Amino acid sequence: MPRKVNCGIDYDDGYDDDFDDYDYGYDVEENVKEPSLQDTIKRGVWRCSVCTYDNDDTMSSCDICGILRSPSVSNGTYDEKRTAPFKFDVPSPDDLVSNGLHSSAQHSKAKIFDFKSSRAPSSGVGKNEAVKVLSSAKSSDSSHDSTGKDKHGGIIFSKNLEINPSSGFKASDKSSASMAKGRVEDSDGRSVSNNLCSSGQSSSSLMPKERTDMVEDGSSLTHGGEGYLTSNLKNMTLGAKSGNSKDIKANSRAQYKPEKWMFPEKAEGSLTQLNLAIVGHVDSGKSTLSGRLLHLLGRISQKEMHKYEKESKLQGKGSFAYAWALDESAEERERGVTMTVAVTYLDSKRYHVVVLDSPGHKDFVPNMITGATPADAAILVIDASIGSFEAGMDGTKGQTREHAQLIRSFGVDQIIVAVNKMDAVEYSKDRFDLIKSQLGTFLRSCDFKDSSVTWIPLSAVENQNLVVAPSDVRLSWYHGPYLLDAIDSFQPSSRDFSKPLLMPICDVIKSSQGQVSACGKLEAGAVRSGSKVLVMPFADIATVRSLERDSQTCSIARAGDNVAINLHGIDGNHVIAGGVLCHPDFPVAFARHLELKVLVLDGATPILMGSQLEFYAHHAKEAARVARISSLLDSKTGKVTKKAPRCIVAKQSAVIELVLQESICIEMFSKCKALGRVFLRTLGRTVAVGVVTRIVEELV
Ligand code: GTP
Ligand code: MG
Repeated sequence: MPRKVNCGIDYDDGYDDDFDDYDYGYDVEENVKEPSLQDTIKRGVWRCSVCTYDNDDTMSSCDICGILRSPSVSNGTYDEKRTAPFKFDVPSPDDLVSNGLHSSAQHSKAKIFDFKSSRAPSSGVGKNEAVKVLSSAKSSDSSHDSTGKDKHGGIIFSKNLEINPSSGFKASDKSSASMAKGRVEDSDGRSVSNNLCSSGQSSSSLMPKERTDMVEDGSSLTHGGEGYLTSNLKNMTLGAKSGNSKDIKANSRAQYKPEKWMFPEKAEGSLTQLNLAIVGHVDSGKSTLSGRLLHLLGRISQKEMHKYEKESKLQGKGSFAYAWALDESAEERERGVTMTVAVTYLDSKRYHVVVLDSPGHKDFVPNMITGATPADAAILVIDASIGSFEAGMDGTKGQTREHAQLIRSFGVDQIIVAVNKMDAVEYSKDRFDLIKSQLGTFLRSCDFKDSSVTWIPLSAVENQNLVVAPSDVRLSWYHGPYLLDAIDSFQPSSRDFSKPLLMPICDVIKSSQGQVSACGKLEAGAVRSGSKVLVMPFADIATVRSLERDSQTCSIARAGDNVAINLHGIDGNHVIAGGVLCHPDFPVAFARHLELKVLVLDGATPILMGSQLEFYAHHAKEAARVARISSLLDSKTGKVTKKAPRCIVAKQSAVIELVLQESICIEMFSKCKALGRVFLRTLGRTVAVGVVTRIVEELV
């Protein structure tokens, strides 16, 4: 019934969590650079072994990151190994083998950096081949057919982010789609390229000389970059190599004049769309709650429900019957764990709700990020059982905090906290109050206003407080709204109808007849059958053949709508998740060197110059390196408190520059919020959230 957004990454195929146990110290210890003589011989200072900050000799711990001074650095003599800065190369699996690391470590580390990237395929083979194989595998394993529909008429979303395992993240990886031949700036002051090359060439080999140098040396990035960017101001066309492409003018958005049909006519009784993310710690009951709601609202028939009950019982997973409506894959059902975001629909009195049921397990946070980012509002599901709420709140292992922080940084400011499994604590008011008090403090620290958080005690399994007021007398102390009521109380999100079309592609459907559809939520503008669209990053022009919303054909889609857009006149291999559909005159940026404003999350490891991170923005993800930490900011006033710090520690805000492994479609936050939000992760944790403040260098 739901479609699965398979845009995420299953890092941990083995699901054994083995990388948790692995000592990552080799990043520091193995990949070391010899410090120069000048570095080492400085009187009256000692250099921090972690962030390399030169501390005063009187300090016993690092002024910046708090690391204790090593006993071996007294009297100004340096332990070379400890003082050496990080080496920035991501170790390949081969490197790890040659470094003599044991096999599980090798496996784990490789997995961490082995994104199933959204970047463009290296050739006709690779990701898009994988799409076909995986689509057909899916159709045989479950209820889908090869026409791109499931048997309920829903859409099958192909695993188009799966990439050829041989690609990986080596510098020699030849996976980039396009490459700038020249540089120009559009009238927004943003740089664009005047020529895109076709796929299959290594980005580094195609990189202009000065740019390659700049990337090697983070310090020269900005200045060199600016000179480079301004050198071709006049030429403002993008051209793609593919035969059906045309020259594209990058116009200022201020010049854009929307047409009348792009604005909705508020028809009497029509429902507003609400993209609702269901998030929370693993096993808190997100899928059960979603399944139960669908059943209660008639979206799952009695017959279907009966089937789920029967089948789940047969597999010894009877308690997961409702979750099975969302957890469709054999693997999810077998494990009893959601792995990718399931998208389904239900109607409340006021809203047409797009339910985004997210995975809670920590290994699938990347999938939660990529799948739930279009959310307008969220339900944070809490397991009220003794010990379970506490596990979710655990700073290192619990996902309640991480999901709450992520949801807030997706721009969601209104949430319902569904305190689920109240049946397991006898519907205790004391337990509910304790959860409300502890979690409430944390939510305030994430910048959720008390007035935008609704707390509801409920039980998905016992159907208490979901679509009607509770019937169990043990909940008689509660006088607030029931869940569906609270959903109707959300404020509708404002939509950018009057801006040029922007739709980040979260998924791609390919039919056996060779038809291709791009799926996602329109962030701005509108599109209708017959519209011409620019498909980035390949900069191909395609025509909209048809549109589908909630498995039904429609003629127009507008900002806020979740749709599948069937395209023609385009090579299907040029439609990729992480790409963006744009108005032909207003291409989205395609860049790998970005300036960001970030906040390092509470409890996160420090971010250092040169740190290797996993970068996420809308449905794109890429390996990234911190090329510069420009300044620390006062998190309240936003004023610069320190220039060029050595590292950023938990709870600090900073301006940094990041160089991605490959270019992605991206936009400044000031231009498009949805395309300008970023998330940085490492070692299986989200370490920072932020926004793109500047595109330093575009189209590589
Ligand atoms: P992930 O997606 O893997 O993070 O899990 P989830 O949050 O979707 O949890 P799921 O719905 O799969 O439920 C996990 C377990 O909790 C199942 O055994 C459910 O039966 C149980 N469960 C869900 N809701 C309730 C509830 O209200 N009361 C009780 N007692 N158990 C519940
Ligand atoms: Mg689930």
